[in-house]
Amino acid sequence: MVAPAVQPVILGLASTFGIESSAGQPALLLKHDHRDPVLTPSLKIPTLSEARALLEAAARREGGRWVGHSRRTGEAARLLAQAHPSLDPEAAETLGLLHDIGRGEAPGSFRHTLEGYRLLKGRGWDDAARVCLTHSFPAKDFSQLDAAEDLTEEDRRFVRKFIEPCEDTDYDRLIQLCDALAQAAGFCLLEKRFVDIALRYAPSPASFAKWRAVLELRDAFSRAIGRSVYDLLPGIVENTFRLTKPTAD
Ligand SMILES: [Fe+2]
Repeated sequence: MVAPAVQPVILGLASTFGIESSAGQPALLLKHDHRDPVLTPSLKIPTLSEARALLEAAARREGGRWVGHSRRTGEAARLLAQAHPSLDPEAAETLGLLHDIGRGEAPGSFRHTLEGYRLLKGRGWDDAARVCLTHSFPAKDFSQLDAAEDLTEEDRRFVRKFIEPCEDTDYDRLIQLCDALAQAAGFCLLEKRFVDIALRYAPSPASFAKWRAVLELRDAFSRAIGRSVYDLLPGIVENTFRLTKPTAD
């Protein structure tokens, strides 16, 4: 039973995220936070339930395979963080769920990174906002940014100024890796994912730099957790070796 004094807060939050009950009234959205206070002392990120609600609201506006891919990225991030000595699983899943949230505004374009950053930064979730930008720059190569036709010159300058001096955290690195491991249909061997992408788009020197950086992340995380990251991802063998059509993740 929710105390009457708390109900307006909860209902307001639900309304913010566009969640309604079947009667058309905002549904109850309870804030659960199970993050480890030692591992996440000052992370400015939403709770997991808030992140799920944001993703669902974005999916209703602009659904697509990116939503399933985002859920898989969150799942991978949680599984890897559970085995990692200094990462919090719930924070990791939250960040994975939200890394592509800007696709709710700009589904198929590079601009989704900046849209996601602005959306989350505007709510005070600075550490989730930064992941929307950092997940696209594991190699800090800016040729993709320079070529992005859906950004203004000012946008490009802003992203570059943010990323260039940015020291990636373990959470940034985790989501860069999990983004590459997660297809909507399941987890996937990195090399297969890279070939899928190469067959759909003409790979550039920037693509190779990015893939090399992601392979290094795979090895660094495998060392940190004491086993291959692939061992922690259920269904990866089946999904990797199943004949599938290329996906738009
Ligand atoms: Fe992604």
